[in-house]
Amino acid sequence: MNKFIGFVGGGQMAEALIRGVIASGLYHSDNILVSEPNDFRREHLEKTYAVHTSADNHELFRRCRIVILAVKPQTMKALLEECRERVGEQHILVTVAAGLPISFYQKTVGREGLKVIRAMPNTPALVLEGATALSRNGHVSEEELLEAEEIFLAVGEVVLLDEVHLDAVTGLSGSGPAYVFSFVEALIDAGVKSGLTRAVSEKLTLQTVSGSVKLLKESGEHPAALRGKVTSPGGTAITALHVLEKAGFHGMIMDIVESAVVRSRQLGQVE
Ligand SMILES: NC(=O)c1ccc[n+]([C@@H]2O[C@H](COP(=O)([O-])OP(=O)(O)OC[C@H]3O[C@@H](n4cnc5c(N)ncnc54)[C@H](OP(=O)(O)O)[C@@H]3O)[C@@H](O)[C@H]2O)c1
Repeated sequence: MNKFIGFVGGGQMAEALIRGVIASGLYHSDNILVSEPNDFRREHLEKTYAVHTSADNHELFRRCRIVILAVKPQTMKALLEECRERVGEQHILVTVAAGLPISFYQKTVGREGLKVIRAMPNTPALVLEGATALSRNGHVSEEELLEAEEIFLAVGEVVLLDEVHLDAVTGLSGSGPAYVFSFVEALIDAGVKSGLTRAVSEKLTLQTVSGSVKLLKESGEHPAALRGKVTSPGGTAITALHVLEKAGFHGMIMDIVESAVVRSRQLGQVE
């Protein structure tokens, strides 16, 4: 089947999705068009994924029915104003921009019946392990939503939610990889401080993190239950957990996610 898809903005998130939909076989690279102003990025995407690129957003709207909007939220208004004459009833706009509500697209494009799907993916999509939440407006049919869901299922897990929950998703899984990378980096440094070489510490840390996640998924047990199984009386793990909780670990994690949720709401107020 010759399905076409267009990406406006060829940055990190677009690249993750492009890689995923090609690797999963959902789209052939020949059927992917990316419009991107940066020469270096266009060249990179053409060379790496054999997709078509252009510096002209209008061409993309002429050729593609499904258009993934993958520019920064701060750039979105100018982009929509530039392209609004090109947006027709055939288009399905799928936006990955953090914070901006569906009403923002409707208002800026100003077209009756505009179809908008708001997605909040994350960068592990690059290795087909993304986590995405999708929300649609009333003009998007069930079939069209499934079509968009397929794109994000090709790069990981998908949940369908009412739009009211998307700022929380942005703070949790959208920004979550940054928290996890920081935690992993700290754990590696901790191993080095305790006398391990960096290479050994990295290997042990990555396997500990991915193994723990796999155990959680496969056992279906609550994290607290599994934590209980590695804390023997008077042992090393419970001693370390004491330090962790004295530092307010749980509260700190809740605070950082909450701050990202607040920031997502602020970005959504961009006019
Ligand atoms: N990265 C993440 O972890 C993540 C997670 C969830 C959601 N998102 C969302 O994904 C979107 C893209 O983020 P990103 O990290 O991929 O950003 P990025 O790497 O900066 O990519 C955006 C790309 O769009 C290009 N661009 C700027 N103006 C344009 C225009 N008018 N027409 C076409 N292309 C244009 C930029 O080119 P120049 O560099 O030349 O300006 C850049 O290459 C954002 O809205 C973000 O909120 C990102």
